[in-house]
Amino acid sequence: MDKHSPEFDQFASAYDELLDDPLRNRFSLDPLHFHRRKWHLIRRLLESRGIATGTRIWLDVGCGRGELLNLAGKEFASACGCDPSARMLSPHTAFKTYEQASTIELPFKDGSFDFVTAVCVFHHVHGEDRALLIKEIKRVLTPGGWCCIVEHNPWNPVTQTIVRRCPVDADAELLTASRMRDLLKASAFTSIAKEYFLIFPEKLFRWFGALEGAFSKLAFGGQYAILAQAPSHLSRSESTRETSIASSQNSAAALPVNLTANEPAHAK
Ligand SMILES: C[S@@+](CC[C@H](N)C(=O)[O-])C[C@H]1O[C@@H](n2cnc3c(N)ncnc32)[C@H](O)[C@@H]1O
Repeated sequence: MDKHSPEFDQFASAYDELLDDPLRNRFSLDPLHFHRRKWHLIRRLLESRGIATGTRIWLDVGCGRGELLNLAGKEFASACGCDPSARMLSPHTAFKTYEQASTIELPFKDGSFDFVTAVCVFHHVHGEDRALLIKEIKRVLTPGGWCCIVEHNPWNPVTQTIVRRCPVDADAELLTASRMRDLLKASAFTSIAKEYFLIFPEKLFRWFGALEGAFSKLAFGGQYAILAQAPSHLSRSESTRETSIASSQNSAAALPVNLTANEPAHAK
């Protein structure tokens, strides 16, 4: 069911304070550390599939304040983000960001992007909306395009503790990597690769980071990333259904559609 309730609007003005947790802070001395680790893993997963970013168009779904876009956007031919919470979208992001009018519809035409990420978004999406959002990601991807989902690992006790006491995560329902993989498979995504990461706190990672790779297939890390490829062509029933979704969103031919955009000075 589509219920547009940008719950993150209430958190946006005090977001850093709300995330402040001594246990979390022990894992990250620099607020950008977690974003950097995510981007390095995403880039490595893409490289392992021979996917060059320089020619790709990237969408970050649930981009929030746009830290990942700011870190990695310039490595793509073009990059933008979207989020249902207008207050989370930062006017200072160096890339275009778009407000989603709905939590299960993305304001873009079919096949607009080669690569889509959703980082720490799906634990805020519930019930059947998860499958609907994945279908939307597939719809806005080019056939054969790639998506990467990053999520908290519910098997990690430190993650569980931090999530349990974080006000921003009051509604969180963590999902295992297997559950995430099944959701992607159900939407006909293939070539699925999964890695766990964030085992060591930042201080130790500097010395023992290389060891994390040895444990990346085991459910130890605080988070996991899943890379998956959209089907290279749509079945007849999907293309009919998805054409009707796109036309019900907006009949304009322009790309993207139906948007409220932050237009920063450095937008690509
Ligand atoms: C924990 S924050 C993560 C923000 C950013 N991706 C990051 O890693 O810093 C979760 C974000 O997901 C957004 N969100 C929640 N439900 C969503 C949905 N159905 N579609 C897209 N974004 C959603 C929230 O508004 C919020 O900005």
